[in-house]
Amino acid sequence: MTDKNELAQIGVVGLAVMGSNLARNFARNGNTVAVYNRSPEKTHALIEAHGEEGNFVPSETIEDFVASLERPRKAIIMVKAGKATDAVIDQLAEAMDDGDIIIDGGNALFTDTIRREKDVAARGKHFVGAGISGGEEGALNGPAIMPGGPKESWETLGPILESIAANVDGTPCVTHIGADGAGHFVKMVHNGIEYADMQVIGEAYQLLRYGAGMEPAEIAEVFREWNSGDLDSYLIEITAEVLAQKDPETGAPLVDIIVDAAGQKGTGRWTAINGLELGVPITGIAESVFARALSSSTAQRSAAQEGQLPAGAIKALDVDKAEFIEDVRRALYAAKLIAYSQGFDEIKAGSEEFGWDVDPRDLATIWRGGCIIRAKFLDRIRAAYDNNADLPALILDPYFKGELEDLIDPWRRVVVAATQLGLPAPVFASSLSYYDSLRAERLPAALIQGQRDFFGAHTFKRTDKPGTFHIEWSGDRSLTQTD
Ligand code: 6PG
Repeated sequence: MTDKNELAQIGVVGLAVMGSNLARNFARNGNTVAVYNRSPEKTHALIEAHGEEGNFVPSETIEDFVASLERPRKAIIMVKAGKATDAVIDQLAEAMDDGDIIIDGGNALFTDTIRREKDVAARGKHFVGAGISGGEEGALNGPAIMPGGPKESWETLGPILESIAANVDGTPCVTHIGADGAGHFVKMVHNGIEYADMQVIGEAYQLLRYGAGMEPAEIAEVFREWNSGDLDSYLIEITAEVLAQKDPETGAPLVDIIVDAAGQKGTGRWTAINGLELGVPITGIAESVFARALSSSTAQRSAAQEGQLPAGAIKALDVDKAEFIEDVRRALYAAKLIAYSQGFDEIKAGSEEFGWDVDPRDLATIWRGGCIIRAKFLDRIRAAYDNNADLPALILDPYFKGELEDLIDPWRRVVVAATQLGLPAPVFASSLSYYDSLRAERLPAALIQGQRDFFGAHTFKRTDKPGTFHIEWSGDRSLTQTD
């Protein structure tokens, strides 16, 4: 139904699939929705196909669109992240009045959001960068939403976002994350965790397929079973679907027909870059980004295959298949736990750096539904932060520590098996090294400090007394205190 005279509670600019699904979600939940797209064909198509789902107010100019919104006006931008977003923000800010709210629902880089928030605030309007997760299906039926921006915008915006968000046990999967770029920052890390989660699932598949010699359909069954236990999650669920799928043309397992070069739009890469900048070891996320890059290095990969890089002594699997499957499940759980733990570390560091005061319990709550990394064990993460809001690391929570007791031996066995089989398992292996590094009483960092002092007089600290020291390496090797 459309009514040109009715004022809309919310507007959506950009009606590609995500934008039109979000608009339909608003309309289906009783909101009157203003819709606008640069090329009006998309607006017509939306109204034509779905106009009966609720109240839509279509416009062909941005001015009409703005005029069709009730005050304070609230407009969500769902256009391609980057320059297009800046252009639409500028048009909206021009046409809107003081106190109106512009929301960017794309996957914007959080530093862009900080800049945009400043610019829009200087023009008297509010700007909210909101991470929206759940893909096309989530946008239509209930995404997880991570809005940043000023707290007062949340007061106006909260109820309307709650009306369309996913809902778990009566709690909507949306809450105010923090000022300016906090929402997009948290969404970025969500995506980084998503990359790591997908990669560890991929590594588990690779081991079962080429280590245990299982067929995709059989592995699909294994994932289906895993989805009823600790690993219960959306990504495990869809993995079973993808593995069970046959290619409609050839009848072969679809996974064998898909080119093994993983794409990326950039959010995982941003998470890794930010982790490097903040000095947070998000090894699982970074390895996952590199694993995608390596998979897409097709020229290098074929040269390596043609050049027959030596494999060394490959050892076939010599354990019972059922035991190996269970070991892989536990290794996957462990590596996934590390990825989440590191992701939460990055959020804590980002929150401190930018003064956002992000509450990890909020994220564990709203990520339980709607989003791509939704998983049963987020309830456990929530409980962990409920018990101790200042946990030094998620894996140090007593529950997860208990889980790791059960996971550590299988995890080690799987990394050894992957090495002996000559199969890559970058996140399984590097996460184990991360874990062992955290546990290690002494790290080779002492030696690195010695080397740095040797070639660059970079000084070092001593274990037995305070101060900063240097050895006269090229002289008499005496010790001097520099600080
Ligand atoms: C989500 C997804 C979504 C998108 C990713 C995919 O939370 O709904 O994360 O934002 O699917 O950006 O990213 P890549 O193309 O980089 O894999």
